[in-house]
Amino acid sequence: MNQITSSSAEKRRGTHAVDERSIGNIITQAKQLSPEQVNAILAHQGATGKRFGEAAVELGLASPQDVIWALSQQYNYPYRNAAARSVSDELVVANAPFSDHAERFRNLRSQLLIKLGADAGARHGHVIALLSADRGDGKTFIAANLAITLAQLGGRVALVDADMRNARMQELFEISDRQTGLSEALNGRAEAGLCVPSPEFANLFVLPSGVIPPNPQELVERPTFALLLNDLRNKFDFVIVDTPAADVGIDCVSIAAKCQNVLMVVRAGANSTKTVKQLAQYCSRARVEILGTVLNDY
Ligand SMILES: Nc1ncnc2c1ncn2[C@@H]1O[C@H](COP(=O)(O)OP(=O)(O)O)[C@@H](O)[C@H]1O
Ligand SMILES: [Mg+2]
Repeated sequence: MNQITSSSAEKRRGTHAVDERSIGNIITQAKQLSPEQVNAILAHQGATGKRFGEAAVELGLASPQDVIWALSQQYNYPYRNAAARSVSDELVVANAPFSDHAERFRNLRSQLLIKLGADAGARHGHVIALLSADRGDGKTFIAANLAITLAQLGGRVALVDADMRNARMQELFEISDRQTGLSEALNGRAEAGLCVPSPEFANLFVLPSGVIPPNPQELVERPTFALLLNDLRNKFDFVIVDTPAADVGIDCVSIAAKCQNVLMVVRAGANSTKTVKQLAQYCSRARVEILGTVLNDY
């Protein structure tokens, strides 16, 4: 691989030389630039006084997205390179960290941290389930993106796919060929602690649903589930739990009863007031307190 050296312009500026070199190396590696292309960028840098990334973009050898991605690598900020992306566009906070979507997730994170008292630093062992009345309300979308947003703070985050009716986390995080997950752990056919590191985000771990069982409701009512959540609570700063919609069964309330905190997702213009109220009543009967509501308007 080519080593990128500081340009004379950078040396003149006397700043960012180390950073620039590392950005240059990251871009060179990611874009597999040839020595000739690197030399062309360096020459352009020398002539214009621009930074390596800017020079590469001007010469058409990298895109602005590549430069943002390289910066994210340099600052260890989990973000997915568009060029390397082969999985879901649904992970919006990773794919487009400067989008409105990502900004809204950061706002949600801030509000959540305040509610949990975690903004003041008590960031350990928070278990949060996402519930909603109907399929398609956005629970999985929000759970996955919220988990990434929390992981971007640097703590350890576990994302549990407890939707053993319509599991999607394995696909979203591209965890391939993995057949063992929550259902096996609850059936006693695999050890707890099956969380797998997400391929993209170092401190985010995903517990896939495992093989879809015939008895999801029964499984989440087993004491093993509470033990497993307790184990995760001790090991992670945040545990985000995705659940099946209430319209397919009341598993979600059983799951919520074992988590400390619940976020209710309401889809604007889609859920009927009646179904949302009904779910809130089920929660209240199960002594599940709802921490907050996320209005998903899409
Ligand atoms: N705010 C949003 N913006 C864009 N797409 C969304 C949003 N919320 C949900 N979706 C999309 O809607 C579909 C259903 O969402 P999903 O999270 O699977 O719902 P649920 O888990 O509640 O059944 C998915 O394709 C998801 O990407
Ligand atoms: Mg879902």
